[in-house]
Amino acid sequence: MNPYSDQASLHSISLADLTKMSGLPMTTVSAVVQCDDLAGLRYLPLNEAETTEIEQRLKNILKDNTIERAGADAQHRWQLGWQEILERVRLGGISENTLLPQYFKHDILRLYGGYIRATTLDFEKRIFRLLKAILFFNYFFNISHVIEFGCGTGANLLQLHKMFPKMKLTGCDWVQPSLKLIRRINQETGSNIQPIHFNMFTLDGNENIDITNFTAVVTLHAMEQLGNNFGPFLDMLISNRPAVCIHLEPIIEFYDTNFEFDLHAVNYHSKRNYLSGLFNKLRDYEKVGDIEIIQSHRSGFGSTFQEAYSIIVWRPL
Ligand SMILES: C[S@@+](CC[C@H](N)C(=O)[O-])C[C@H]1O[C@@H](n2cnc3c(N)ncnc32)[C@H](O)[C@@H]1O
Repeated sequence: MNPYSDQASLHSISLADLTKMSGLPMTTVSAVVQCDDLAGLRYLPLNEAETTEIEQRLKNILKDNTIERAGADAQHRWQLGWQEILERVRLGGISENTLLPQYFKHDILRLYGGYIRATTLDFEKRIFRLLKAILFFNYFFNISHVIEFGCGTGANLLQLHKMFPKMKLTGCDWVQPSLKLIRRINQETGSNIQPIHFNMFTLDGNENIDITNFTAVVTLHAMEQLGNNFGPFLDMLISNRPAVCIHLEPIIEFYDTNFEFDLHAVNYHSKRNYLSGLFNKLRDYEKVGDIEIIQSHRSGFGSTFQEAYSIIVWRPL
């Protein structure tokens, strides 16, 4: 049976949902999100049998010794992945679609503590786009320069360029195809994004990073790749004193392991060696007066096995 045949039970994403997901005021959200942005963002909660099937898939992943883990060894995979996008762009030109990372392909997602089936495969990427737009709009009012670390295909920087054409933009990544993609974006769109070769583990490339107190730093699904080895990078950010740092990342501390649904995400997160300890470390720095945490918020939205849309915003003091 077609799972969408019962249209009446389909849920739609509303402004109230984006308010809940972003943790920001509805007035901010409605200033950014237009009716068209929500059109077709629909889903069905999974039933018990479907949920059991997803849990079984997770069990298999947790037992699988070939699952790719984040870390310094993963560099060649990013190199290959973004080289593939570069080839796609060489054939099809720069667009939101050609720059879309390959991993946005799932219709089974997480929302508010349960699994959902989105009616279209672009659901996750559209929510990601809207969350970014809301965060950028809310936090970049006094900002003249944004640096994205782990900028990947440059899709987020292109979105920023379209939102703020006069904003100085810098994209940092540790693999060359990413930097080539930025140059390509500049050629085709007239943007002037500065590509910088930078490694968040070793801080190689640090001498080229120019942070002032009008600079915002963003990481979007990028610090997730650092496991528990984020200390030197975080300390570098604090000592360079940007105006604000925004992270949209999977934050393991936000899960509540009393709930099986969250416990599954924690197990998956650990299996993939994703970011661990950032929020606790930021809280330690806040306690001694080094930084202020402006927002820490669990969006309740995620891909199939984890929530990579948790929000932390802070600034050095
Ligand atoms: C999941 S992708 C996210 C890309 C982009 N931020 C986005 O939202 O589409 C992770 C990115 O982090 C980069 N990355 C991973 N480890 C890194 C490191 N140690 N230094 C710099 N970049 C790194 C990868 O090359 C990749 O571009």
